[in-house]
Amino acid sequence: MDLFLENHKMLTTFFNMILSSITLTEACDVYEWSPNGRPLPTYSTGMIYELIKDHQPPVPWYSAVWSSRGIPRHNFVTRLTVLDRCPTKDQMLRWGIQIDPTCILCNATSETRDHLYYECPYSWSFWKELSRKVQWNPSRNWSTEFGCMQAIRSPKHERLLVLLAWQASIYLLWTKRNNRHHRQQYRSVSSLAKQADLLIRNRISGIREINPSLSSKMLQRWFLN
Ligand SMILES: *[C@@H]1O[C@H](CO)[C@@H](O)[C@H](O)[C@H]1NC(C)=O
Ligand SMILES: *[C@@H]1O[C@H](CO)[C@@H](O)[C@H](O)[C@H]1NC(C)=O
Repeated sequence: MDLFLENHKMLTTFFNMILSSITLTEACDVYEWSPNGRPLPTYSTGMIYELIKDHQPPVPWYSAVWSSRGIPRHNFVTRLTVLDRCPTKDQMLRWGIQIDPTCILCNATSETRDHLYYECPYSWSFWKELSRKVQWNPSRNWSTEFGCMQAIRSPKHERLLVLLAWQASIYLLWTKRNNRHHRQQYRSVSSLAKQADLLIRNRISGIREINPSLSSKMLQRWFLN
């Protein structure tokens, strides 16, 4: 109670000091935006947004993960994977969940992000197949592959196609792993590759409306192999 009264007294004194330093005039009161300490004639949402948002430089992998013309849910799962935030078995064990650490795609080694992409023999044969379709020289090492994805300097249609395939592989392997985990579903590498083919062709068709020439170049390359 004493503390409260003390604070109250201090605040009252403080406001009295401020109020007594203000000279009041007969003019009407007006509202004013002065975000930078300078009054603005108009209010700009864009400017206020720029001022309050977090100013962080974009991450170096931004364009490999949020590639233009990507499939949004593939971009999203790829981002989680890049940050190693997907609940792989090594993560779950770290959180204290008692589970069998073995990878359910190969039954051979512990499941980690780096194992899933693409040390696991199942994942590797799937990624090799997709890589062949987009004429990419695949790596079995996550860090190496991720670094290469950020450094592609090929023409736009080739680069976008590789990124589409890479993100689709991450998305499909992750969902497949979840399906097998929760529903005991089995799916062969070739049926997973068919699913990837459908997703990628649909995406390329979707690009046709916005950019017909890009779309047709990507489709030609996809059908080449
Ligand atoms: C993994 O092990 C389970 C049960 O032990 C078995 O049913 C399944 O076929 C095995 N999968 C592979 C790819 O070896
Ligand atoms: C993967 O490559 C990185 C460097 O790019 C290396 O440090 C790491 O040891 C490699 N991992 C494996 C399992 O070979």
